[in-house]
Amino acid sequence: MKVLGIETSCDETGIAIYDDKQGLLAEALYSQIELHAEYGGVVPELASRDHVRRIIPLIDQVMKQAVCQPDDIDGIAYTSGPGLMGALMVGAAVGRSLAWTWKCPSVAVHHMEGHLLAPMLEDNTPDFPFLALLVSGGHTLLVDVTGIGRYKIIGESLDDAVGEAFDKTAKMLGLGYPGGPIISELALTGQSGLYKFPRPMVNRPGLDMSFSGLKTFVLNTWNKSDKTEQTKANIAYAFQEAVVDTLAIKCQRALKETRYQRLVIAGGVSANTRLRARLNELTHKNSLEVYYPKHQFCTDNGAMIAYAGLQRLIAGEKDGDGFSTRPRWPLGELEAPGL
Ligand code: KG4
Ligand code: ZN
Repeated sequence: MKVLGIETSCDETGIAIYDDKQGLLAEALYSQIELHAEYGGVVPELASRDHVRRIIPLIDQVMKQAVCQPDDIDGIAYTSGPGLMGALMVGAAVGRSLAWTWKCPSVAVHHMEGHLLAPMLEDNTPDFPFLALLVSGGHTLLVDVTGIGRYKIIGESLDDAVGEAFDKTAKMLGLGYPGGPIISELALTGQSGLYKFPRPMVNRPGLDMSFSGLKTFVLNTWNKSDKTEQTKANIAYAFQEAVVDTLAIKCQRALKETRYQRLVIAGGVSANTRLRARLNELTHKNSLEVYYPKHQFCTDNGAMIAYAGLQRLIAGEKDGDGFSTRPRWPLGELEAPGL
C-alpha cells in the first residue's frame, strides 16, 4: 500500500510517499524559514499563500521521484490539525481533492501523532509500550504510549512549549528565527559555570513543566549584562542547559513511574544535540533504550504524516465526503484506529 503524505500545518510544505513493504519511496520539503525570518516568527497569512504556491510542484516532484502514477497511490494522508488554520486548509483541500480525483481514500492525520511515530521511519524501531517526549514549537508532552492512537498525556508544559522558549530566547538576544538551531549552535561557544538558570518545577511532584519563567530570566540577565557577543553565547549555553536538565529530570521521573524500558523523543527540539546527549546518558545509565527520528524527520516533514496515515488506512479508517481541520486538537483526544 502506497500512501502520499501531505504536511502543511505551519511553515514547511512536506510531501512524501511511504509504502508498507518498501518503506519511504520519496520525500520533499520546502521550508519557508527565509520568508518569515524578517518578521522573527511565522506570519500565518504568508504561510498559507506559500503552501498554495509550493504544494502541487512538490507533489509532482515526489511522484516522479518515486516513479508513481496516480493509479499507484492507494491513499492520501494530510495533516488536519493542530496548526495554523489557513495553512492546514491548503493541505486538507489538496489532499481531499486528489483523493476524489484519483479515486482513493484519504485520512486526516494529527500532526503530533506524526511526530510521535517518526522514529518508526528508522531501521531500528521501538516496540510498544514506550514513553514519548514530544518537544516541538507548539507542544511539550510526556506521553504514555501503548499502541497507535493509544496516547495518555502524563505531563505537559503549562505555558510555553520548549521550541517556543528557544525561539523567544533567540528573539530577545537579537538572533534569527527559528531560535532552536541558532541557540544550540551559539551555546557551543558559551562558557559553563558563569550563569545558573532555574530548572522550573523540578522540585514539585508530578510531570508538568513550565518554560515561560526561563524566558523572563534570560531577558533580565541580558538586560543587566555587558551585552557582548560572548555574553550572548554564555546565556545561550545556560538557557540550553536549564532546558535540557529540566526535560531530563522529568523524563527520568516518568520512566520510573511508568516502568517503561523505552524512551522515544520526537518533534523539532529532538534535533538538539545536547538534549540527545543528555538523554542517551540517562537511558544508558539505567539500561534503557532510546529512539529518535533522524535529524531531517525531527522537524516537520511529509514522511511522518504518510507513515501515520498508512497505519490508520490499514486499520480501515478513512474520511467521509467532507473534511475538517482542527487548529486546536489535543493529542489525548485521538482514538486508536478501527475503534
Ligand atoms: O516540530 P517542529 O518542526 O514544528 C512544530 O510542530 O512546532 O518544531 C519546530 C521547533 C522550533 O521551535 C525550533 O526552534 C525547534 O523546533 N528546533 C530546535 C532545534 N531544531 C529545531 N530546538 C532546539 N534545538 C534544535 N537543534
Ligand atoms: Zn511539528
